[in-house]
Amino acid sequence: MINDLERCLVSKEEIAQKVAEIGAAISRDYEGKSLVVVGILKGAVLFLSDLVREITIPVELDFMAVSSYGSSTESSGVVRILKDLDRSIEGKDVLIVEDIVDSGLTLKYLLENLEARKPSSVRVCTLLEKPARRKIEISIHYNGFVIPDEFAVGYGLDYNEKYRNLPGVYVLKKEIYG
Ligand code: IMP
Ligand code: MG
Repeated sequence: MINDLERCLVSKEEIAQKVAEIGAAISRDYEGKSLVVVGILKGAVLFLSDLVREITIPVELDFMAVSSYGSSTESSGVVRILKDLDRSIEGKDVLIVEDIVDSGLTLKYLLENLEARKPSSVRVCTLLEKPARRKIEISIHYNGFVIPDEFAVGYGLDYNEKYRNLPGVYVLKKEIYG
């Protein structure tokens, strides 16, 4: 696995530090509220599980799985729900947790879909952001790291379902994804 990597973008230590900061900010911002943390499967699972342990207020966890039609390295904006939330979010404060916001197309769809369910609020928290490829303006309330326009893997992010278990975020060698 290591031989497939070009270089490290964000180390395990940098992630831990940032996750603690974001967790503290969320705990302050949502004090006294009923927060539902919605993880987007599967990429956000590692980030979410570390993040919620840094949140000191009670939270509910729920998950959605979506598939965006397109190639394995580029999304099309046409999104299909593979797994929906288990519970209603009406009147609740919702925080979407994503691994990466790239074009923003997946998130635009998710925001519209969740807002239609009449939550009290919806915000976005992402580990990574790739602004160079943004097609849609979306406000991201909690962002871990801004990364360059390169294909990243690790800490939840995959290429063909591989590399999710790497402890940091890495650039994959071009020869691997062509
Ligand atoms: P968007 O709709 O273009 O913003 O893409 C969002 C989704 O594409 C993410 O949730 C990831 O699953 C995937 N994705 C985008 N960029 C990368 C990357 O650099 N590495 C791995 N997955 C990525
Ligand atoms: Mg993915």
